[in-house]
Amino acid sequence: MSLAPAPTAPQFPARIFSGIQPSGGLTLGNYLGALKRFVQKQDEGIETIYCLVDMHAITVWQDPAKLRHATREAAAGFIAAGIDPARSILFNQSQVTAHAELGWIFNCVARMGWMSRMTQFKDKAGKNSENVSLGLFAYPALMAADILAYKATHVPVGEDQKQHLELCRDIAIKFNNDYGVNFFPVVEPVIEGAATRVMSLRDGTMKMSKSDPSDQSRINLTDDADTISKKIRKAKTDSEPLPDTLDGLKDRPEARNLVNIYAALSDMTAAQVMTDYAGAQFGTFKPALADLAVAKLEPITLEMTRLMQDPAEIDRIIGQGAARADAIARPIVDEVYDIVGMIRSRVV
Ligand code: TYM
Repeated sequence: MSLAPAPTAPQFPARIFSGIQPSGGLTLGNYLGALKRFVQKQDEGIETIYCLVDMHAITVWQDPAKLRHATREAAAGFIAAGIDPARSILFNQSQVTAHAELGWIFNCVARMGWMSRMTQFKDKAGKNSENVSLGLFAYPALMAADILAYKATHVPVGEDQKQHLELCRDIAIKFNNDYGVNFFPVVEPVIEGAATRVMSLRDGTMKMSKSDPSDQSRINLTDDADTISKKIRKAKTDSEPLPDTLDGLKDRPEARNLVNIYAALSDMTAAQVMTDYAGAQFGTFKPALADLAVAKLEPITLEMTRLMQDPAEIDRIIGQGAARADAIARPIVDEVYDIVGMIRSRVV
């Protein structure tokens, strides 16, 4: 699929950036909403930069040993899903200091009012907003820095990141206006496919999430075939057969979710799935979906397990990725310092 030009093209060549938090294991939501599409973009031959955003992860408490493990496991997940570190740049955020540096500058560009309207902050902070970290509040400014440190033009994400990307656009526009430059591109969110919002297997109105207390609500990329199959067979549904049109799924969120998952895993549209399974009972559809999910996910899980046996090799791969990422971001952030009026005269 070709990419819509970013509004301030042509001086910004197409470059893709996206990130995933290593704050726990990867889920089917991460895979279908993000990873699978990251691989497609790479395979389309576009320049792709993918980041394990460990600095975002610590906006909520992370046990250090678990963070290290989750970062390596997420890197293994990327590679097992088809990211080729020779073609894409794959690295963890904290190894490239440009992110933190530009993040600070964007803290000074973004407005409190913009940040206060972020629904994800409100959801995560809940009633506890006095006691969450300042980092959680500033999170979207760091996310904008992740993207703009590379002047990335397109950002593939799931639906839940849309508002953050709108804020990234606002930050780029305000920076360009404030300093009278056309320095940052106004990024295009790339939210496409049948599974831009994979829902919980226990409640079709809630997003599938690594932070849901119920492990039954999600499929983890580390689940074995038997676990995947059981979770799908036990997924909450209603008692009606599948209708013959998508319209018939309007008020059936659980059924709609399973159809979307089937569509995304099989590279079909949800409408095509409806044609194949019109009138089917869940007693037929769930086993078919379980078989499909196992066929698609098991090879990834096995490869992740194999890669995790050599953590030093994973560290080497993301270390090399970090050096390549730094080579792109460093001159961009140095130019930002200059635009902002900061003297750069350190003797090296
Ligand atoms: P994170 O780590 O929550 O999720 C990573 C990616 O997975 C997608 N995703 C889903 N897609 C469909 N259905 C779901 N249930 C589901 N759950 C997660 C997310 O939309 C995302 O694309 N703030 C980001 C990480 C980030 C980032 C960035 C992304 C930091 N800097 C710069 C893009 C560009 C986050 O917390 O994603």
